[in-house]
Amino acid sequence: MIKIAPSILAADYLNLAADIRKAESAGADWFHVDIMDGVFVPNISFGPGLVSAIRPVTKKFLDVHLMIVNPEKHLKSFRAAGADNITVHAEAAGSLPEVAAKIKALGATAGVSVNPETPLDKIAGCLKEFELVLVMSVNPGFGGQAFIETSLGKIRELKRLIISTGSKALIEVDGGINEKNAPALKEAGADILVAGSAVFKSADMAQTICKLRF
Ligand code: DX5
Ligand code: ZN
Repeated sequence: MIKIAPSILAADYLNLAADIRKAESAGADWFHVDIMDGVFVPNISFGPGLVSAIRPVTKKFLDVHLMIVNPEKHLKSFRAAGADNITVHAEAAGSLPEVAAKIKALGATAGVSVNPETPLDKIAGCLKEFELVLVMSVNPGFGGQAFIETSLGKIRELKRLIISTGSKALIEVDGGINEKNAPALKEAGADILVAGSAVFKSADMAQTICKLRF
């Protein structure tokens, strides 16, 4: 069954623990934590301190998305803070096989992400090293943007590549996901849907999560 990973970027920061608990009761499978450094992306969000603050609030899988330059420098602190998965950007990391090995040596699963403009060629040679591939369906940096429709073809192509290389990587999609585009994403091969605004700005989180899933 497809997993729904609400992005806390769209949560109420002053009531974050309550919002996380609410999303968990509404059926969230994972929590997605967007880390932005103001360099790789124009915006600044949180650091490892926030990951450790939310770690005791939920037992759910914490999926940390590093939108930062030099991600290798910060793997240890995010893992120590409680990240279960750490995703780096293919555009920001040095050697992808090396960064995957480092993440796994810390005991987390390793993800690699590609921006909308980045071709899959950039990661095709190392799909077996990663447990997760995150396809950005908006330009990273901000929540609440419109879904880029060409992402659907990219997901289908990625699914074929994963199968042909014998990789077991899951496909996660991030940005502009809502009840309308979720069915097409599932059909294209997505395993995990990240949803920020759709979940946290919803009047009925349980119904929204259910609609995203089915
Ligand atoms: C964008 C982030 C996304 C974002 C998704 O840079 O990586 O995770 O929070 O937010 P929505 O679902 O609002 O597009
Ligand atoms: Zn994200």
